[in-house]
Amino acid sequence: MTDPAIRIVPSVLPADFSRLGEECQALEKAGVDRIQWDVMDGRFVPNLTFGPDVVAACRPLVQIGFEAHLMVVDPDPMLPRWVEAGCELVIVHAEACRHLHRSLETARAAGARAGVALNPATPLSAVEHVLDLVDLLLVMTVNPGFGGQSYLSSMEPKIAAARRMLDDRAPHVELEVDGGIGPVTIAAAAAAGARTFCAGSALFADRTDMGGAVGRLRSTVEETLRRSADDSADSR
Ligand code: DX5
Repeated sequence: MTDPAIRIVPSVLPADFSRLGEECQALEKAGVDRIQWDVMDGRFVPNLTFGPDVVAACRPLVQIGFEAHLMVVDPDPMLPRWVEAGCELVIVHAEACRHLHRSLETARAAGARAGVALNPATPLSAVEHVLDLVDLLLVMTVNPGFGGQSYLSSMEPKIAAARRMLDDRAPHVELEVDGGIGPVTIAAAAAAGARTFCAGSALFADRTDMGGAVGRLRSTVEETLRRSADDSADSR
C-alpha cells in the first residue's frame, strides 16, 4: 500500500545561518513535517555547507525529524556521525557512492532510515537493485548545489516512472522531489507521483507567513490528488 501522507520538508539552505536554531523552531512552528539539511562538500557539488556538529547543535531545539541530504563524495565514513547528530534519515547520492548497496546498508546499520537521491541525468535503473534497502527515493528537480534554481519539468516523466516502480515493487518507499518546488511547480510534481516535497526558497520567501506557505503547498497537493482521483473515477 502506497503511503498516502503528503510531506512538506524545508531545505535549510535559504535560512539565516547565523540563527539556524531559531530558523528550525520557526519551521517547526510553521507545520513542516521534517527538516532537510543540505550537506555539501565542495566536490560532489560546487558549494560547501555544514557538518554534523551544526546539525547536532540544532537537534535539541525542535521535536520534528531531520533528514541529511548528503551531496558529498563517498559518504560512508561519516554516515554514523549524521545519525549521532540527530538525523533519522540519511540520503546518499547514487552518483557519489562507490558501492551504493554497501552505503545503504551502512546507513541502516548506523540506525537511520536510508534514502537515495538521483541527479537529473541519472536513470532510475541506478536504484532498481537496491529497493530492498531504501526507505526514500529522492528525484532531484534541479542540479544540486544551490537553492533558488528553476524547477526542471523535464523530470516529470522520471517522477512518474519512479512512482510506478515504487507502487509495483516498494510501495513503502517515500518519493521525494527537491529543487524549484513552490506554489507554481508543486502541482505538476504531485500529479507525476511525488508525495514528499523539499522546498527552500518558497518557504523562506516571506518569513512572516511561513505557516501560510506550508499550508498552501500542502493544500495544492491535496487539491491536485483530489482532481486526479475524480478524473480516474470519471474515466471508469
Ligand atoms: C540542492 C538543494 C536545493 C534546496 C531547495 O541544490 O538541496 O534543491 O534543497 O532549494 P529551492 O527550493 O530554493 O530550489
